[in-house]
Amino acid sequence: MTAPANPSEAMPYRNANLAVDVRVEDLLARMTIEEKLGQLNQNAVDRSLTSEQALETWSGPVKAGKIGSFIVGPSGPALHNRLQRIALEESRLGIPVSFGYDVIHGYRVIFPITLGLACAWEPALLERAQSLAAREARRSGVDWIFAPMCDLARDARWGRVAETCGEDPYLNSLCTAAQVKGFQGSNPAAADRTAACLKHFVAYGAVTGGRDYNHTEVPESILRQSHLPPFHAGVKAGALTVMSAFNTIDGIPAAASHHALTEILRDEWGFKGFVVSDWGAIDEMVKWGYAKHGGEAARLGIEAGNDMDMISGHYLNTLPAQIQDGLVDQKTIDTATRNVLRVKFQTGLFDRPYTDESVNAFAEPIAQADLDLARECVVRSTVLLKNSEDVLPLSKNLTKVALIGPFGADRREMLGSWMGYGRTEDVVTLAEGIAAKLADPAQLRVVLGCNVNSTSRTITLTDGTIVPDENAEQADELQELDKATQAAQEADIVIMALGEPCGWTGECASRSSLGLTGRQQELFDAVTLTGKPIIAVVFSGRPLSLPVVLEKSAAVLFAWQPGIQAGNGVADLLFGDAFPSGRLTASVAREVSQVPVYYNRYKTGRPSPLSTDYRDLTRNPQFWFGYGLTYTTFAYSPVEIVPATKEHPATARASITNTGKHEGHEVAQLYIRQLACSHAVRPEQELRGFQRIGLRPGETAEITFPLTGEVLGYWGREGKWHIDAGDYHIWIAPQAQSGDPELLCFH
Ligand code: NOJ
Repeated sequence: MTAPANPSEAMPYRNANLAVDVRVEDLLARMTIEEKLGQLNQNAVDRSLTSEQALETWSGPVKAGKIGSFIVGPSGPALHNRLQRIALEESRLGIPVSFGYDVIHGYRVIFPITLGLACAWEPALLERAQSLAAREARRSGVDWIFAPMCDLARDARWGRVAETCGEDPYLNSLCTAAQVKGFQGSNPAAADRTAACLKHFVAYGAVTGGRDYNHTEVPESILRQSHLPPFHAGVKAGALTVMSAFNTIDGIPAAASHHALTEILRDEWGFKGFVVSDWGAIDEMVKWGYAKHGGEAARLGIEAGNDMDMISGHYLNTLPAQIQDGLVDQKTIDTATRNVLRVKFQTGLFDRPYTDESVNAFAEPIAQADLDLARECVVRSTVLLKNSEDVLPLSKNLTKVALIGPFGADRREMLGSWMGYGRTEDVVTLAEGIAAKLADPAQLRVVLGCNVNSTSRTITLTDGTIVPDENAEQADELQELDKATQAAQEADIVIMALGEPCGWTGECASRSSLGLTGRQQELFDAVTLTGKPIIAVVFSGRPLSLPVVLEKSAAVLFAWQPGIQAGNGVADLLFGDAFPSGRLTASVAREVSQVPVYYNRYKTGRPSPLSTDYRDLTRNPQFWFGYGLTYTTFAYSPVEIVPATKEHPATARASITNTGKHEGHEVAQLYIRQLACSHAVRPEQELRGFQRIGLRPGETAEITFPLTGEVLGYWGREGKWHIDAGDYHIWIAPQAQSGDPELLCFH
C-alpha cells in the first residue's frame, strides 16, 4: 500500500522530493496549537483491548489530531493500518501517527537479554541482533523502538541491570552506537529499520539503593565521566529520539531537567531529534513533590526540553490554556513539534505510512539464518566462570545425565523480562538442547527439583490478602527434592539449571538479595550431598552472588536469560560444539552487601585493603568486570610502550599465546590510569580499548593499541574533553584489576 496521492504542490509537506526541514516548516505553519500539542501526546494501545475496542477508543482522538504516537500492544499491522488510515485520511492535515514499542532484545526472535549480549564484547554482534529486531518490528508496523538502554549497571539489586550493557561507560558507548546502527541503519525510513530511542536520560542506573524509580546522588563530575558518555555516543551515532528518565538528577525530575535535556543534549551535543518522557513521568513530577499540579508539570517538562508526553496527557490538556494565559511561549511548542515532525519525516512515515499486511511475521516459521544468529548470540553471551579439571566440555557419549532445576525445561523463563512478541513455542529448552547432543537422548533424566520461586504459589485469604500457599508448595517441592536427589544419585553427571525468575528482573523488580530464589539453594545443597559432579547453568537478569554454587560445582556458566535458542546455544558450549568466549560486563559481588561494586572505582587516600576493605569482607567482588574462561588458556607478555614519533602516537603492545589444547577467543583489554589529575580524581582504572582475537593451540598474536588523546583523556565537569600531559599507567590484561602496568609519560 502507498500513501494516498495528494497534490503535493498545494501541500509541500507531502512532497517527498523536498528537504525534510522544508516539509517540517510548511506543515508547522498550517497547524493549530491543538494539532501541535496532539503531536506531543503519546498514548498506549491497551493490550487487553480487541482491535475493534481499540479502534472504538482511539479513532476519535486520532481523527481530531490529538495523538501523535502510540505505544503498541500485541496489535499488529492490521490495527496500525486502520488507525493510520484515520490519521491520514480523516484528520485535518493527514499527519501519520507513529507506533513505538519496547523491542529490547528481540521482537519475535528473542535474543539473550542486553546484559548477556554485551558479554560478547562484540558490538557488531549487537548491531546484527538489533537489526534483525528492527526488521521484524518494522514489518509488524512498529516504526520506533524504545532502545537502546544506555544506563550503567553498578548495583545488581536494581532489576533493570538486565537491560543494560553493564558497568563500564566505554563499553556501553560502543554497544549503544552499535545498537543505534542496528535499529536505524543508514536510513531509518527503510522498510526494515526503525527510529531508536536512547534511554533513560540520565543517571537512571544510579538509583539510590538499587530501588527502581528512586532519586540519584550523582555529582556533575561523575555524571559527565560515567553516565553521559553512552548517551553521547548514541547521539553521535545518529539516534533520532531520547527518553527522559523517571529518576531525579540533582533533585530535579529528569523530565524537567533543563540542564540535561537542553544544556547538554541540545546545546552541547547538537541533538536534533525529540525527547519523550518515560511512562507518566510528566505526571510523576507532582508525585515527586516538584510540580503543584499536572499543568505545572507540563510547563516544566516542555520548557526543560522534554518534547513528548508519554501517557499523562498533561501537555494536551493543560498547555492550550497556559499558552493563552501567556505562561508558556508558543515558540516552545513549535520547537517541540518541529522536533517530532522531523523524526516522522526521517522515518518515512509520511511517504510510506502503511505496513504490508500480507507478511504475517507470526504465522511464518523463523528463518534458519535468524535462528542461527540467535544461537550464536547465546553462545557468545554465556560466561564460563569455573571449569575445574576441565570437566567441560562434556562427551556426547555420556550415559546417565541428570538435568535438575526449575529452569531446565521452562520456556517462558528463557525469554526474559522484555520478551517483545516472543513466543514460548519458539523456545528450545536446555533439556531439549542437551537431548539433541547426546548419542542416546534416553540417557537424560529431567527433574524440576523445586519451583522457580516458592512464593509464586499463593492463596487469597478471606480479607483479600494474598499469601504464599505453604502447604501446596511444600507437598510438591518435597516430592521434587526426593526425585532430584535420586536422579543425581543414579547419574554420572548432574547439570543444574538454577537462577532467578524473569519476573524478578527488569522494570519494577529490584531485589534485596542476590541469591537463588525459592528453594533452589536447598535443592542445590541436597544434590551436592550425592557427591556427583555438578555443572551449574545459571539463568538470571543480573549477576547473582552464588558463593556456595561456585565452590561446590565443578563448572559454572552464567547464561543470563538467553532467549529462544537457549537450549541449543548452551548445549553447544556444554558439549564442545562451541567454546565459551563471553566476558562479564558487570562485576559479580561476593554478597549483596558489597553493591554497588564495579571495577572503575576510586583508589581513596588509603588504598590498602586494611583501610578500605570491610572488617569482615574484602571490597573486591567475586569476579571482576572482563572475567570469563574458555576451554583453553592464554599467556600475556609484559606490556611494552612504544614511544611516540612525530607521525604516530605512543603505542601499547603485547603478545598473547594460546597455551592450552583448544582453539579459543581471547578478549584483550586495555586499561589506563592517570596518576595525577588536578581537575577531578580519576578512577583507579578505566577500560579504553579491547580486541577479540582467535588463536589456535600454540599460536601467538601481537596486539597493539595506539595511545591517542581519545584513549587518555576524560570529561571534565564542565563538559569538556581534557587530555593532560603527565604520567599514566597502561596495561593490557584479560580482565579488570589484573596485569602489570607500564609507565607512559605523555607530553
Ligand atoms: C517504562 C520504561 O521505563 C521504559 O523503558 C519503557 O520504554 C516505557 N515504559 C514504555 O513502555
